[in-house]
Amino acid sequence: MFSDLSHKVVVVTGGSKGLGSAIARRFGKENMKVVINYHTDAAGAQQTAEQVIAAGGQAITVQADVSTEDGIHTLCDMALQTFGDLDVWVNNAGMENQHATHQLTLAEWQRVINVNLTGVFLGTQTALNYFVKKNKAGNIINMSSVHEQIPWPTFAHYAASKGGIKLFTQTVAMEYAARHIRINAIGPGAINTPINAVKFADPQQLQTTIAMIPMQRIGDPDEVAAAAAWLASSESSYVTGVTLMVDGGMTLYPAFQGGNG
Ligand code: NAI
Ligand code: BGC
Repeated sequence: MFSDLSHKVVVVTGGSKGLGSAIARRFGKENMKVVINYHTDAAGAQQTAEQVIAAGGQAITVQADVSTEDGIHTLCDMALQTFGDLDVWVNNAGMENQHATHQLTLAEWQRVINVNLTGVFLGTQTALNYFVKKNKAGNIINMSSVHEQIPWPTFAHYAASKGGIKLFTQTVAMEYAARHIRINAIGPGAINTPINAVKFADPQQLQTTIAMIPMQRIGDPDEVAAAAAWLASSESSYVTGVTLMVDGGMTLYPAFQGGNG
């Protein structure tokens, strides 16, 4: 638990399921006021809100498409109207799908970039505007991936979006450091969420993934949420511009395990 988080206001995008839901629940345990964004799954967002409240926090759910300025502005407006402030903004929403790059349509490229990268830009910019206006030491967390570092054939649009998040986060961290605004990213490895449900339901694909993880297990969403809580808290007060990998060692070149190479 991070006592300085208590009663702070946080926006979590893509909070109806998966990592966003786990992060919202963790912030509930930290007694925070949580704005849970959803795109289409109102019931999932509502369930998350109930869990946040049961854990000791406060929560509202807000429908918005993070790839639009209107959607992002609605999230900020609702945070301010309901809770009167904004302290932390988590750009978590994201999507992926698989296409050979020579067959990837421009429309699909743009769809993934719009949600995963433009959504992060819009969320960051809106939070920055509020923090700058209020001269506030705000905190922004972007959901990147091990694929900001590891190339991922047939997921070129997804990997490009995450590589973009990495340098965007570093650049904005440098730009706003003197104003005491911190911005960091999290780089999850293979985590047990709906995004991976089909893949992990297939025993062979599951084993293939586990073989790429030195800790030899899939990650739990709560392990990513714990990283988000730490980055949001003052316990990480001297940390800005990093991607905190939460990946069981996936980025450590596991093929070299045992002295191979
Ligand atoms: P998920 O599919 O369970 O959840 C994604 C969330 O994003 C959903 O709530 C969805 O509604 C929301 N979303 C998608 N498009 C949206 C839009 N236009 N506007 C608002 N919300 C939208 O996936 P998961 O695993 O929870 O992923 C969350 C983030 O973590 C993503 O950015 C993903 O790339 C990243 N990530 C996930 C990993 C994993 O193994 N689960 C590993 C590395 C990164
Ligand atoms: C993807 C997951 C994948 C993981 C490890 C994440 O960015 O969203 O589907 O399992 O990377 O490859």
